[in-house]
Amino acid sequence: MIDGTVLVTGAAGFIGSHLVELLLEETNCRLVCLDDFNPSYDVARKRANVAGFVAHPRVRLIEHSFCDAAFMQRLVAEEAIRYVAHLGGHAGVRASLADPWRYEQVNVGGTLALLEAVRGRPLERFLLASSSTVYGWGAPVPFLEDGPLGVPLSPYGVSKRAAELLCLMYWRVHGVPAVCARLFSVYGPRLRPDLALAVFTRAIERGQPIPLYGDGSVQRDFTHVSDVCRGLLAALACEAAVGEAVNLGHAEPIAIREVIELVAQALGKAAQIELRPGSPADLPATCADLSKAQRLLNYRPQIGFAEGVRAYVDWYRDTAAT
Ligand SMILES: NC(=O)c1ccc[n+]([C@@H]2O[C@H](COP(=O)([O-])OP(=O)(O)OC[C@H]3O[C@@H](n4cnc5c(N)ncnc54)[C@H](O)[C@@H]3O)[C@@H](O)[C@H]2O)c1
Repeated sequence: MIDGTVLVTGAAGFIGSHLVELLLEETNCRLVCLDDFNPSYDVARKRANVAGFVAHPRVRLIEHSFCDAAFMQRLVAEEAIRYVAHLGGHAGVRASLADPWRYEQVNVGGTLALLEAVRGRPLERFLLASSSTVYGWGAPVPFLEDGPLGVPLSPYGVSKRAAELLCLMYWRVHGVPAVCARLFSVYGPRLRPDLALAVFTRAIERGQPIPLYGDGSVQRDFTHVSDVCRGLLAALACEAAVGEAVNLGHAEPIAIREVIELVAQALGKAAQIELRPGSPADLPATCADLSKAQRLLNYRPQIGFAEGVRAYVDWYRDTAAT
């Protein structure tokens, strides 16, 4: 079990806020929760994400950017940070084609600022939220962490691969105990509003057409946020994971058309589909090989997709009603 102060970046985000809650439940750690509450999506949602833990006696919430290297250096020293869970970042595959600079600044520059802040300090773990997008075009499916990587098809994927390489270099050269968790299409309550499942749910509920890019045959390895957070917690504790990349996926890819059907069933409404051209940034399929995660982290996803979709739809209706 982990012990000491944990810095969680992106704590007001979708996955970060779930990880904070799990850390409060499962550990006695003090948590320094950092987020700059930028308007990547409705800031009110980010405020709502932290509402459940902001007043917790073991939580300190700080509103600042991790790209501020001098600030991060002071914070890590003053708070005697022992673990970093770096969930903060600028996410979104297609959006990154329109604004590649931002992804480079936040995901690469920000990770570097954090690594510099912890370099030479006593640290138990530096956990990076990386992404299945690092596998890219040409990587054999299912994706194996230590098999050949392809070419990422978006500035987002490139920024995550660059951040991984910085982490692995800081481990080899400076001894920063880094782990790169490669997350696969995470979903669940508080899902980012730009992600496919959120877009589909909103459109079907409102009786609006769903923009479907390509023919719907693209497959994604949807993974429930509770499973991902269990894997992240295990990675914070696992010594053998240091210096490694580890997949946190579900290993059951689902075609996007099937996702739409499941959402429509859960909502009890019909979906109207509006076909749009496919994006060259979309890989045809993602699928995690989970043998390394099982071996190192005892990671076994528990939530089946149909069950997770029903629970997500319930959450969506509950929060839309408030
Ligand atoms: N959601 C997924 O399916 C998925 C898949 C793979 C990887 N990831 C990665 O997991 C992490 C969390 O993703 P998410 O879906 O929860 O996204 P999110 O946008 O909900 O959360 C990210 C948080 O980081 C914060 N942030 C961004 N830049 C910051 C900065 N400079 N300083 C401080 N805070 C900053 C944002 O305000 C946001 O609250 C991201 O790094 C993302 O790239 C997500």
